[in-house]
Amino acid sequence: MLNPALDRLTDYPFDRIRALLAEVDPPAGMTPRVLGLGEPRHPPPPQVAEILAKSATLWGKYPMVNGTAEFRLAVADWLTRRYGLGEGFIDPERQILPVAGTREALFFAAALSVPERKNGERPTVLLPNPFYHVYAGAALMADAEPVFVPATEETGFLPRFEALPEEVLSRAALAFLCTPANPQGSVADLHALKSLIALARAHDFMLAVDECYAEIYCDAPPPGALQACAEMGGRTDHVMIFHSLSKRSSVPGLRSGFVAGDPDTIGRFRLLRSYGAAAVPGPILAVSAALWRDEAHVEANRDLYRQKFDQADATLAGRPGYRRPQGGFFLWLDVGDGEEAARRLWSEAAVRVLPGAYLGRPGEDGRNPGAPYIRIALVDDLEATADALERIVQVL
Ligand SMILES: Cc1ncc(COP(=O)(O)O)c(C=O)c1O
Repeated sequence: MLNPALDRLTDYPFDRIRALLAEVDPPAGMTPRVLGLGEPRHPPPPQVAEILAKSATLWGKYPMVNGTAEFRLAVADWLTRRYGLGEGFIDPERQILPVAGTREALFFAAALSVPERKNGERPTVLLPNPFYHVYAGAALMADAEPVFVPATEETGFLPRFEALPEEVLSRAALAFLCTPANPQGSVADLHALKSLIALARAHDFMLAVDECYAEIYCDAPPPGALQACAEMGGRTDHVMIFHSLSKRSSVPGLRSGFVAGDPDTIGRFRLLRSYGAAAVPGPILAVSAALWRDEAHVEANRDLYRQKFDQADATLAGRPGYRRPQGGFFLWLDVGDGEEAARRLWSEAAVRVLPGAYLGRPGEDGRNPGAPYIRIALVDDLEATADALERIVQVL
């Protein structure tokens, strides 16, 4: 028999878009522009191939779940620089864990944090609505009750977990926050991060902060949860952060990220991964360490995204529903009916986007807060992006 909990994993967004457009043909002869998937398509930095070639003998070894000292130190140094943490704030040996992309780590976060009962009741997992679909999958497979908290225009596109009823907070085992947020592009400031950390500590739940878009921004670098911990006195309990090279270095195929947190959490996460996850291979760790130590390719990458947001401003600014995001690489565009817009964009202009409804769930009022939106991933080169944006304006 199979675990009946699997039946809860319906609504996979990319299955839904395939189903929606299965019977719809794009206009003949038009080059398709595929902006539905958040897959970075800038060229990977050249050091990836060079270091992989140089590290080839490491394919002959089983990798350690804890990675290498070189990798952990490169990450700790990057965190220290990026978030202005004091020297020694992060212990690379006990507070950093390499992961094979943050998707699996975010999924494992629920297995790590959700008990069978919390205060004698069924635990809740708090998540923003709309959200990165893996959060809900993780909550459902952990047999927790997912609580979808609106992250809409009215809330500054961030979830107000602190406004939840005490009955829900007391059962909370885990909360996911994404900043910069997929899909909304909103950024939690330090004040918001500190309030959330205080909330997690007061109610004894784990706060999983998904910072995998932290390096894609237009103006100021988004603050991070460890920075908030440092400013709150230095404790890192009840907080885990997730970072990835997929977006920062445009290497989604490398499958390389890390989790950081307090030593006890990371120690247990390491144990969990050593039972159930693939350790990151040696050559990939060698490449990853070099990438975390290099900023030049990240600045070039960020600059390319900035130019595409300038293109979006030039093409869409002033249009009702358009907003330049604070971070990440998505346009989250209010078009009235996202499914209808996605269908028309494909059939009339060969542009594939994701209906926002597929990233949200109906709230207590029965309304799916993603339904009026489409998510457009600005992952192509400048020319293709300019062309896609023009086509979008023509259709909408
Ligand atoms: C919000 C968010 N978190 C995590 C991930 C996972 O990224 P990766 O597994 O490549 O690190 C993604 C990928 O699209 C994402 O959008």
